[in-house]
Amino acid sequence: MVIRSGFRVSGKLEDSEIGRLVIDRRLVSPDELRSVDEERRRLQQDGRHRPLGDLLVDSGFLTRTQLSRLYGEPDESSARTGQQIPGYQILNKVGAGAMATVYRARQLSLNRIVAIKVLPRRMSENPEFVDRFYKEGRAAAQLNHNNIVQAIDVGEAGGFHYFVMEYVEGCTVYDELASGKLFVEKEAISIVTQIARALQHAHEKGFIHRDVKPKNIMLTRESVAKLADMGLAREMTDHEAAMAEAGRAYGTPYYISPEQIRGQVLIDHRADIYSLGATFYHMITGRVPFEGPTPSAVMHKHLKESLTPPDHLNTHLTAGCGTMIEKMMAKDAEDRYATAADLLTDLDLLARGQRLKFAPLRLDHGMLETLAEGEEHHHEAPPPPSNGAPPIALTVTLGALLFVSVLVNVILLANR
Ligand SMILES: Nc1ncnc2c1ncn2[C@@H]1O[C@H](COP(=O)(O)OP(=O)(O)OP(=O)(O)O)[C@@H](O)[C@H]1O
Ligand SMILES: [Mg+2]
Repeated sequence: MVIRSGFRVSGKLEDSEIGRLVIDRRLVSPDELRSVDEERRRLQQDGRHRPLGDLLVDSGFLTRTQLSRLYGEPDESSARTGQQIPGYQILNKVGAGAMATVYRARQLSLNRIVAIKVLPRRMSENPEFVDRFYKEGRAAAQLNHNNIVQAIDVGEAGGFHYFVMEYVEGCTVYDELASGKLFVEKEAISIVTQIARALQHAHEKGFIHRDVKPKNIMLTRESVAKLADMGLAREMTDHEAAMAEAGRAYGTPYYISPEQIRGQVLIDHRADIYSLGATFYHMITGRVPFEGPTPSAVMHKHLKESLTPPDHLNTHLTAGCGTMIEKMMAKDAEDRYATAADLLTDLDLLARGQRLKFAPLRLDHGMLETLAEGEEHHHEAPPPPSNGAPPIALTVTLGALLFVSVLVNVILLANR
C-alpha cells in the first residue's frame, strides 16, 4: 500500500540533478543528454536560460509526464494540501514502503541533500506510536557508522511526523533482486560483511535492528552497503516496549526470526543474525528461504521446516558459504553465531577460502560413510556393563553400611 503524505515538492531541480536522474533511470542516453546540454550552454551564452528538463522535453527525448515524475510532482491530493517542512526543501519522492513515504530534500541550514521519511497522518494520531517514533529517532541518532544510514533529525509539521536521515545515492538490495540479479558469492560476502559490521556497532551499543531485510540494505555506487531503518531498533533494556510487542509477530515474514514470530519478550541481537542469514540466502540463491501462500504459512516454516541448503540451490557456492548461512539461520538462537563479531571472523575466513572457525563443516554422504567406518575402530569404550564387577564406589558404600550395622548391633547387645 502506498501512503500519500501530501508534501509539496519544490519542482526546482538543478540541471545537474535532472541530468543525473534521466541517466540513472535510463530515460535518455548519455549522447542525447550531451547534445541537449550543449544546446543549453549555447543558449546560456546568448543570455537565454532554459532549464535542462524543458529542453529535453522540447527535443523529444523526454515526455512532459516523465519530467513531472522526475520533479516528484505529487498527486492531486498532495497538491491540494501542499504541506511543507520548515528548514527543508522537498525535491522529489524517492520511494514508499508499507508505513511511510521517503523524499529527497535539501536541508537549507547546511545546504546538503537528505532523505526524509514521512509517516501517514493516521499513525500520527496514535500517541503511543508517536512517542516510540521519537524515542527511536533519538536512539538511532546515537549510532554513527559508515554502514548505517545516519539518522539526522525527527520532527513534526502540519500533523505529519518525519524522520530526517542521510540520503543514500543508489539502490537497495531488494531493487537488485527484483531486477533478477543473483549475487555472486564474493559480492554477497562483501555486502553481508558490511552489514555485520553495522550490526556489531549497533549491538555493542545495545540496539537490535529487528527488521534486517533486502529493502533495508542500501548500496551506493561505490559498493558501500548501508543498513537503513534503524528507526525500528530499540534499546534492549526497554522491557516496556518489548512487553507491548509480545505476542505480536513483528517484521517481514520472509526474513523474520523464529523468536520474533513467537512474540518472545526477550528478543536479542541474534534475531538480527537470523534475518541477515535469510537475506544472504536470498542474495545467493535468488530465492527466499521459505515460501508460502500466506504470511502465516511462511512464518510456520521459519518455525518448523528445515532449510534447503543454499548450496543445493546454487551449486557454484562453496560448502563454507552454505554452512555459514545454516548457522546464521539456526532455529534456536543458541545454535547461531553468538555475536556479530564471531560472524565477522567466519566471514573473513570464508572470503579468504579458509576453514570456518565457528560453523561446523557439513559432511556429505560419502564423507559420513568414511567417518562411520572409522568410528567403529576408534570410538571410545562405553562405560563398563553392570553385570561385571561392581564399581568401586558401590563396594565401598556397601562395606561401610555393613560396618555401621554390625557396630549398632554390638552396641545394642552391650547395653542389654
Ligand atoms: N536514506 C535513504 N536514502 C535514499 N533512499 C531511501 C532512503 N531510505 C529509504 N529510501 C528509499 O525509499 C524506499 C522506501 O523506504 P521505506 O523504509 O519507507 O520502506 P521499505 O523499507 O522499502 O519497505 P517496508 O515498508 O516494507 O519496510 C526504499 O525502498 C528506498 O528505495
Ligand atoms: Mg526501509
